[in-house]
Amino acid sequence: VQQAVIESGPLDLVVRFRAARLDPGLCVLEGFHALKHALRFGATVELAVTHDRRAARRLAVDLAPDLLALLAARLEEVTMEIFSRLAPAPPATGIVALARRPAAGLDQLLAPPAEAPIVLLENPSDLGNIGAVVRVAAASGAAGVLTTGRHDPWHPTALRGSAGLHFALPVLRMDELPLVSRPLVALHPDGQPLDAAAVPPGAIVAFGTERAGLTAKLLARADARIAIPMRRGVSSLNLATAVAVTLYARRLGAAA
Ligand SMILES: C[S@@+](CC[C@H](N)C(=O)[O-])C[C@H]1O[C@@H](n2cnc3c(N)ncnc32)[C@H](O)[C@@H]1O
Repeated sequence: VQQAVIESGPLDLVVRFRAARLDPGLCVLEGFHALKHALRFGATVELAVTHDRRAARRLAVDLAPDLLALLAARLEEVTMEIFSRLAPAPPATGIVALARRPAAGLDQLLAPPAEAPIVLLENPSDLGNIGAVVRVAAASGAAGVLTTGRHDPWHPTALRGSAGLHFALPVLRMDELPLVSRPLVALHPDGQPLDAAAVPPGAIVAFGTERAGLTAKLLARADARIAIPMRRGVSSLNLATAVAVTLYARRLGAAA
């Protein structure tokens, strides 16, 4: 990781963070946990800023002793007045950072052979859900997360939701799923009940948008449909919860 250097004044810092929100090559990390995971998973952090270096050190001692030296070297201190202008909702942990987005190729991610599943979110509407999905995908050992639709999965709010775990696996937006040789499995209320073997090796596991579910086009392409059993009267699970149940059914089943 390169040494952080603030060559310009604090107001330039405000401009830099604002510009980074629109820069497809960069991402904004809001909060200690986002920076912690970014560093653990090899992010190129360009700039890391706090308004309270001593509080940041205490967090590192408690939650990331492995990164203590790195954080001490990287964190630049600014006034609370400047810090509060670096993010629309400045994080309570008092840390924000800028990092380069890793280059990840769709073809490379989709290419066989591979055992771990890839999560596909069709047009997710909630950035918090995207973040929560990336987090559980990373934790469970999924190969990557793909999204379609208008949202940038690297939006700062999604990165906050993933606690920076976007750096642990490829996370990509695409217009449409290309033709693939991997099995495509759709999570849908009319499917076969989920069990540990329901997701075949290397599958792309598709989940629908929060309100309307999966599109007819995706369902027509799917090789199988899987349903997560629910008590009568419950309409559906939250999107990120459905992803978590599916990925962990496979993971825990494989471990049994
Ligand atoms: C909030 S749900 C969408 C609900 C939507 N009204 C529908 O009928 O599909 C978002 C996505 O989570 C997945 N999901 C949620 N609960 C599920 C369940 N019990 N079984 C299978 N998939 C589920 C589906 O992929 C769904 O498209």
